[in-house]
Amino acid sequence: MQLSYPDSLPVCQLREEIIEVIKHHQVVIIPGETGSGKTTQLPKMCLEAGLGAAGTIGCTQPRRIAAIAVSDRVGEELQAPDLVAYKIRFHDKTSDNTIIKFMTDGVLLAETRQDSLLAQYGTIIVDEAHERSLNIDFLLGYLKNLLPRRPDLKLIISSATIDAEKFSRHFDDAPILSVSGRSYPIRTMHQEPAGSDENEDSYVEQAVAAVTGLANLPEGGDMLVFMPTERDINDTLDSLRPLFDQSHLLLPLYGRLPAPEQRKIFRPSHQRKIIVATNVAETSITVPGIRFVVDTGLARISRYNPRTGTTSLQVSRIAKASCDQRRGRCGRTGPGVCVRLYSEEDYLSRDEFTLPEIQRANLAEVILQMVHLKLGDPAKFPFIDPPPSTIIREGYRTLRELGALADEHHLTARGRLMAKLPLDPRISRILVEGLSLNARRETTILAAALSIGDPRIRPPEKEFKADEAHRQFVDKQSDFLTLLNIWNHCFNNPEEHFSKSRLSRLCKTAFLSWQRMREWMDVHEQIDRLLRVTQKESATAESASYEAVHKSLTSGFLRNICQKKEKNTYLASGNKEVILFPGSGLYNKGPQWAIAAEFIETTQLFARTVAAVDPSWLEQLGGDLCKRSWSEPHWEKKQGKVLAL
Ligand code: CDP
Ligand code: MG
Repeated sequence: MQLSYPDSLPVCQLREEIIEVIKHHQVVIIPGETGSGKTTQLPKMCLEAGLGAAGTIGCTQPRRIAAIAVSDRVGEELQAPDLVAYKIRFHDKTSDNTIIKFMTDGVLLAETRQDSLLAQYGTIIVDEAHERSLNIDFLLGYLKNLLPRRPDLKLIISSATIDAEKFSRHFDDAPILSVSGRSYPIRTMHQEPAGSDENEDSYVEQAVAAVTGLANLPEGGDMLVFMPTERDINDTLDSLRPLFDQSHLLLPLYGRLPAPEQRKIFRPSHQRKIIVATNVAETSITVPGIRFVVDTGLARISRYNPRTGTTSLQVSRIAKASCDQRRGRCGRTGPGVCVRLYSEEDYLSRDEFTLPEIQRANLAEVILQMVHLKLGDPAKFPFIDPPPSTIIREGYRTLRELGALADEHHLTARGRLMAKLPLDPRISRILVEGLSLNARRETTILAAALSIGDPRIRPPEKEFKADEAHRQFVDKQSDFLTLLNIWNHCFNNPEEHFSKSRLSRLCKTAFLSWQRMREWMDVHEQIDRLLRVTQKESATAESASYEAVHKSLTSGFLRNICQKKEKNTYLASGNKEVILFPGSGLYNKGPQWAIAAEFIETTQLFARTVAAVDPSWLEQLGGDLCKRSWSEPHWEKKQGKVLAL
């Protein structure tokens, strides 16, 4: 086979050295700038080093979209499309001819369950390792254990220019071969954001203004705009269309985009391109020829808050390293310009790096995945950053409470369902219960609500008007129903079609954050999609009973059960005294028994988002739990309280 390399890519300058080192070492670390050709060229170098003969060359990608794009590209470059294929969940395009196999890291992890030696592979390339998702950390730990048992297996770890030493140390000081990137000067402009809670002149509008400014500059070139979510991308394109549709090629780029649409970003065009992307364009996908970048500085990042015991999926500020990556996209082929829709102080105040997911996730979720994947004891697993043992124990306790574990190494049927939902296990538990109690619609909406912030706003000076506007939603028994009322107010009017302007109008009069409502809708869509994968039938239109909804919620928040002591003071597990949050609809009218979605410690310990529950449900939910696991938490009828929670 004729192997040719595009000389312009920096990684090709190191070709001979890389091939030499791969031949003589089991593990090699290759850090390099995004766009230097690692993903597309390294598999070919493995072929040239003769590794294709020993078994498949497997290359993992954090995202499906990248696996597909790169597989296409490498097939073309080799002029042998049948030798290169991809495998992602639900789509396996590999055949007996496949020598180079691109796949998501989740796919390779799942394969370890059947093929613990990964016998089909002669080489594994873990790409984008700097992302440090749970899957990548699981893979790097798994491979660490596997390598001594597979001395013939070669491992290449490629990443952006972060963390290389750490990877090397993890693999017994494996050699590091750095690819130096070429970069042209980039002019960076910071802009003060215009938005506030009251005047939600969103980053979408700001970005559109920035694009307009850049398009008027005399120097031509393609543009890349970073947005946090798919919905923002579509909104941005809607606003750009009337202005640029004639003169420019407007293209979205996000994870779920169908492959033919993705390919357009790589295709040469006589029109200038404006690509609006999520953070897939940060390092996963290198868009060629970008001269201008517009960066909102935002992404959807999931983060567990051990203080409140909840995981948020909010759109939040990305770390400095990500800002720099995004800016770097415009300096690859010539001098570039980057407009940041945030101030320089804002930039300087950001975290240096995004924390690895294992340090942001609820350990219960990590353990659930580990048991599901049969990865062995988390306390002994060779993690790059091992979690503290106290937090591991706490994670096990949560899973037992939720009835997900049959024993330390096996999941219950419910646990297996929960493992399919990459969410906080408490939320997964609620959703699973919601499915079985026919409360899918409500629990999906509430699960999404619990992952974002409260959509109600109280602008200074207007607190009274805001409270008045919010009163229409209040349910006196359950703050969860209050949330459902807000949802129904905005999204559930069959008479009127949903439209952006309508939502914006509704939000203004009801003192709701338009931004948060959109996020809520977005996360709801994501969760709904996840459920569709595990569950065939869709939600029924009928609304579920109070009991069905709140039993489901109780199943996830069993630990947050509280019993009234006096007026607004409650006793929670561990004899903790908690106060009803004054914003709760139950304030001053608290029921005997209640559950809370979270406890927040400020001046006092507050129970927030609360609902009245019937203690007999605890018996049903908790009883089940006792049978299924050997943990303590149980409902003690005689004493009338929850013990050992
Ligand atoms: O992995 P790394 O970021 O180092 O670079 P790469 O993904 O291998 O990309 C090398 C070059 O190939 C870039 O200029 C990409 O734009 C280009 N490429 C492409 O034109 N079409 C693809 N489907 C994939 C990459
Ligand atoms: Mg790459």
